[in-house]
Amino acid sequence: MDFTEHAGEIIRALKPGTLLTTKDGDKLNSMVIGWGTIGINWGKPVFITYVRKSRFTHELLDKNPEFTINVPTGAFDPKILKICGSKSGRDMDKIKEAGLTPVDPETISVPGFKEFPLTLECRVIYCQDQDPAGFDKDSLERLYPADAAGHRDFHTTYYGEIVNAYIIED
Ligand SMILES: Cc1cc2nc3c(=O)[nH]c(=O)nc-3n(C[C@H](O)[C@H](O)[C@H](O)COP(=O)(O)O)c2cc1C
Repeated sequence: MDFTEHAGEIIRALKPGTLLTTKDGDKLNSMVIGWGTIGINWGKPVFITYVRKSRFTHELLDKNPEFTINVPTGAFDPKILKICGSKSGRDMDKIKEAGLTPVDPETISVPGFKEFPLTLECRVIYCQDQDPAGFDKDSLERLYPADAAGHRDFHTTYYGEIVNAYIIED
């Protein structure tokens, strides 16, 4: 599949939420993302995702720098987004709870799902922690309010080369 033919569909799916899936060993986990960028970087097709340091997904990505982006192409059970966007994989098996059916990947180690068939297989080629000095003051305070200890939960930006793209057939 040529990912550019589905770029609009992938971007539109971000608003209600799409799935970013990671895996380390036997631990498979999906979280909902609402931010993402698709395009070309360093001459390669890339999907760029923004993951807060507090997420279990962050931990898994740092251990195994591969991920799938899983986009619905039709109706799906709303509990999938509810569970994957509010619970942490640290505390539960979200794949099982959400009723997701993993489908073997073709190129990387992380599967996609039958229920969210449009799949991008991505390998991280660059990642960068956000630099607080780069923000305008309003965005910094609005998006990253400091907790009592002065800690801000910044995002890490992961650039995933899209090494395979396809729609899982039933
Ligand atoms: C609509 C929606 C969009 C979200 N987008 C992001 C995002 O782009 N980046 C992020 O770090 N968290 C985002 N989240 C929050 C995570 O999905 C949520 O914290 C999740 O429970 C993290 O799971 P984990 O700890 O298993 O990684 C979003 C949540 C929702 C409901």
